[in-house]
Amino acid sequence: MPQGVVIIGAQWGDEGKGKIVDYYAAEADIVGRFQGGNNAGHTLVVEGKQTILHLIPSGVLHAHTRCLIGSGVVFDPEVFLEEVELLRKAGIPNLEDRVKVSDRCHLIFDYHRSLDAAREGGASAKNKIGTTKRGIGPAYEDRAARRGIRVIDLFNEDLLMDRARANYEEKNFLLQQYYKVPTVTIDQFTEKYRSIAERIKPFVADVAKEMYQATQDGKKILFEGAQGILLDIDYGTYPYVTSSHTLPSQAALGLGSRPPKDTLFLGVMKAYSTRVGEGPFPTELKDAMGERLRKEGHEFGATTGRPRRCGWLDLVAVRYSLQVSGIKHVAVTKADVLSGMGDLKVCTHYELDGKRIDTFIADTPALERAKPVYTTLPGWDEKLGGIRSTRDLPHACLEYLRFIEDQTGAKVNLISTGAGRESVIEIQRAF
Ligand code: GDP
Ligand code: IMO
Ligand code: MG
Repeated sequence: MPQGVVIIGAQWGDEGKGKIVDYYAAEADIVGRFQGGNNAGHTLVVEGKQTILHLIPSGVLHAHTRCLIGSGVVFDPEVFLEEVELLRKAGIPNLEDRVKVSDRCHLIFDYHRSLDAAREGGASAKNKIGTTKRGIGPAYEDRAARRGIRVIDLFNEDLLMDRARANYEEKNFLLQQYYKVPTVTIDQFTEKYRSIAERIKPFVADVAKEMYQATQDGKKILFEGAQGILLDIDYGTYPYVTSSHTLPSQAALGLGSRPPKDTLFLGVMKAYSTRVGEGPFPTELKDAMGERLRKEGHEFGATTGRPRRCGWLDLVAVRYSLQVSGIKHVAVTKADVLSGMGDLKVCTHYELDGKRIDTFIADTPALERAKPVYTTLPGWDEKLGGIRSTRDLPHACLEYLRFIEDQTGAKVNLISTGAGRESVIEIQRAF
């Protein structure tokens, strides 16, 4: 691998980023998360055993990696400690030495989760986003409003209590008066967070400093994106987005360190499309084919268990994602799911109010009305599991990859043909 690899979801999340990070992590010294929080669900399958990570970077199963959680992440300490415990029980070594969280991360509290849930339910449900209800949005709001509480504040009890009191007061007013849902209590807060601070302490570090040093020392660094470009707060399908930036530029901000000069920016895209939650999805299939993709692809959320909405590959969406992020290389995952599906449809442009459009637009209600225009490509019946080289891939599968390249201008570097760590093929340019 080059000195840096930035791995970004090129659709609406769940493209298989975790798996691709795990693949590169075999060679990496450091794996860092730079945005999002435990709304992410990154699945790794090693020797048949599945691990789903929400906060800890997806390199952690390789015992030699250092796993850093950068300041751009909103950090739920309870979820983190549970995740550490699960990994410890699974025999993953040296977690206290290897896993570090930035002292600058903003914390997620119960009031963030309650507000998130309140906005998604009851009278306000008509405007719901379909969030993961993990408190991600409200925690980023508090950061921007400068009333957030950071990891470092856990170690200054007076400051922590002052800020917490103000936040509980404000949030309870909203919960009770505006959303008319149960309030949250600050009772036991001191004891609870005194204990959390003690347990978190060995993991807290100046992550930006470590990143700087590692870059200087020529260490190999993986930047692990969460969500996907179409969920970016500015460039996604607003307001049906997450509350952070998912673009590669966030990799620098969220870990406090510019990626090395020699860095590969890699977009991860599924061979078809999925989305969880509300929002426009032009190629969504609400028929038997959509059901088939969900079943064959096991398309159920790794965080919430919700069935994912499924549809044909949307190259307008991917082309746009790669354009706004400057990404020129992709990994195509879940190609195996398309085996035996017959002819495959791929969306190349949309029709909107009688006009052709070739790119994503800012007008979200218009995007809801956009009709996909498809090219039909021949499918393949061969199973892809077990194939380890480009030349053994079915001709139609190679043509499918070539079509992606032609339509997006990107190069397909990797193809993933199964959930397991071993099912990655590096594409040799023979086609
Ligand atoms: P992430 O959020 O981008 O890391 O992706 P998720 O873990 O949420 O969802 C991807 C799902 O697809 C997980 O269940 C993975 O185990 C699985 N997966 C990843 N790559 C492949 C692949 O190439 N083929 C198949 N069949 N499953 C895959
Ligand atoms: P990974 O990293 C897919 C979606 C939610 C919702 C919207 C906002 O596993 O790809 P939020 O809780 O972030 O405020 O929800 O974003 N969403 C994801 N969808 N994969 C994810 O993460 C997601 N994280 C958030 O479903 O539509
Ligand atoms: Mg996921």
